[in-house]
Parts: sequence; C-alpha cells; structure tokens
Amino acid sequence: MEKKYLFSPGPTMLPPEVLLKMAEPIMHHREPEFEKIFAEIREGLKYLFQTKNEVLIFTSSGTGAMEGAVSNILSKGDKALVIRGGKFGERWGEICKAYGIEFIPIDVDWGKAVDPKQIQKALESNPAIRAVYTQASETSTGAKHPIREIVEIVKKHEETVIVVDAITGIGVFNIPMDEWGIDVLISGSQKALMLPPGLAFAALSDKAWKFVERSNLSKYYFDFKKELKSAQKNQNSFTPAISLFVGLRESLHLIRKEGLEAVFRRHEKLADATRAAVKALGLRLYAPDSPSNAVTAIKVPEGIQGGKLKSLFFEKFGITVAGGQDQAKGKIIRIAHLGYYERLDMVMVISALEMLLKEMGYAFELGTGVKAAEEILME
Ligand SMILES: Cc1ncc(COP(=O)(O)O)c(C=O)c1O
Repeated sequence: MEKKYLFSPGPTMLPPEVLLKMAEPIMHHREPEFEKIFAEIREGLKYLFQTKNEVLIFTSSGTGAMEGAVSNILSKGDKALVIRGGKFGERWGEICKAYGIEFIPIDVDWGKAVDPKQIQKALESNPAIRAVYTQASETSTGAKHPIREIVEIVKKHEETVIVVDAITGIGVFNIPMDEWGIDVLISGSQKALMLPPGLAFAALSDKAWKFVERSNLSKYYFDFKKELKSAQKNQNSFTPAISLFVGLRESLHLIRKEGLEAVFRRHEKLADATRAAVKALGLRLYAPDSPSNAVTAIKVPEGIQGGKLKSLFFEKFGITVAGGQDQAKGKIIRIAHLGYYERLDMVMVISALEMLLKEMGYAFELGTGVKAAEEILME
C-alpha cells in the first residue's frame, strides 16, 4: 500500500474539512453567495494578521504579493534595503532589480539571523532608503529574523517602511502587525493557512498606504489600490481562485476555533520536539541560534548524501521532506511542521528519519530521537 505525507515547508498537508469544502460545486464570484464568503474571509484574515486594516488577497503564489510590495510601495529613484539570508531574501533583491530599484543588500550567512544593528547603520548612512525588505522566517535555511527589533529601528525613520515576508511566519509564531507597527505583512496560502498554493496576501499600515498613494512604478494585476477598492465591496478585481476562497473560509474557521495563541503554542511544541530529536541523534541544526518554528533544517551527517536521504524518505515511506537549495544543496534536509500538523505527525517523521539514517550507516541507537521528541510532546 502507498500512503503519502507532505513534510515540506509548502505545500503542506490539508485538513479534510478544507478539502471537502473545496470539492463542492463551484459558485460564481459576482454573486451574493460568494460575497458573503468574502466578507467572512476579510474578518478572519484580520484576526490572523492581527490588524484592523484590510488584508488584500491575490490569486497567485506568495511571490505575487512580494512583487506587489515592491511595485506599489516604491517609486522611481527610491532605494531599498534588502536582508539576504537565503533564497527568499535573494528574491527581494531580484524583484527590486526587475523594477529598476537600486538596493543595498545586507548579506547574512545562511542559517543565521540578521543583526538589527546592521540595519540601523545602513539606514543612518543611506537616508534615501524608502523600504526595508526582509523575511520573518527564511524558509531556505530554517532561520528566524528578529522582526520586532527590526521594526523598532525602521519606525524611527518616517520616510522608510518595513516590509515583512511572513509567508512561513503567519499562523506559526506571533507577528502582531498593528501592535508592533509592521508596515507591510505578506503571506501565502500553501503554508500555515492549510490550503493548496494559489493565494497571496498583503496587509498594509496607514503609513504604507501613503507610500502606495505616491508610488509611480508600473503595475497592473498586483495593483494594491485597485484591490483595496474591490475588497471593500467583498470582491476581487479579477476572477479569483473561487475554490481556494471557499477553502480559506474553512481554514480560517479552524484557526479561530483553535485560537491564535494555541496555534502558536502547538507550532512551538512541534518545533521543540523536532529540535530535541535532532540533538539526541547527535545531529546538528543548520540554524541553531535562531531557529524558526515553521521548519527545522538539519545538517546531514558526514558520509551521508543529503539528496539520497531526501529521496529515500519518499521511496521508503512516501514522505516528502525538502532538501537544501544552492549552497545548502545536499548538505541539509528540512522537515516542516507548519499548518495541519499534530504531535504524532512529528513522531512519525522522526521515526522515519531514524530508520533511514540507520540504513545509511549512521551510528546511533534506534529510538533515541523519538524518545527525546516524545518527552517534549508529553509535557
Ligand atoms: C519565506 C518565503 N518567501 C517566499 C516564498 C515564495 O512563495 P511562492 O512559492 O508561493 O511564490 C516562499 C515559498 O516557499 C517562502 O517560504
């Protein structure tokens, strides 16, 4: 028998409640039935993003909202500061380049969190910087950046906004948008929102909306002003991914039913258990100093090929984990625990890891990792 499991940091596994809703016959997006769903979603997203402002929804993968956060926030001649601590930080730079925006990179060693002092220094010596672009959780390395501290620094600069890609942060750990004063907060559907890929989200502070007002870069599909007007009428500007919206209403219900704090605690526990297992097995984390609760990046031990380990997960157990990208290729595997994951899911994936490592010749006692995880999961 073949059974498949996703432990990749997006797409992630989906709750049956969401799957069933999405299987219902499709409705038309310009009818009151859809508008009612849209209205509920707007409220649910404000709860999830912890903001009073509108959360815009785009039918695209998460990168669409990232692109919009450059083309709608900046204007010709503006400068940007880009935190590059992995693949997704690099993407901010690539988008700026595509829009002719000169950017100053802060290159962070992969697996490390950015030092906020570097941001402070960069802003002080480059007053022309209009936006700071970062990730909350750099999925490619498993590291978490200190968003609260970064926001405190950017706040002091009236002519600069902070844009946070929280695609693997929202619904995983606490990022209270309004309380902290984040200007642009971005997410995507295929992560902790427990949906298939296909929706991107962006919420903006009042300060960020002022930047949108004066922005003169070209935009069409990802036009934040146009999308805000549509959202206020419970509509999307274009044909939305209707079935995903229907699923989103359900996943937002599930999140609200569990409660945000409980959701964060669950993610913390799953991440803690995974990290404890890694340690007990004598393995090392790729981002030991500031690990994200979304995904655990594990260094593959000496003598074992990362690519091979990743493929064996699937061949032997039907489990998809992620490997490393670019400079981390073959060196790490990434086990995700964001979204629809519970305690026993982690026991299963750690057990699979043990069996594979044993088979590949890594010396340890079977059950060591599982035991360490169980001890945390029972607390
Ligand atoms: C932190 C982060 N940013 C951006 C993206 C890109 O999102 P998408 O692939 O949905 O465009 C991802 C996807 O894994 C991500 O994890």
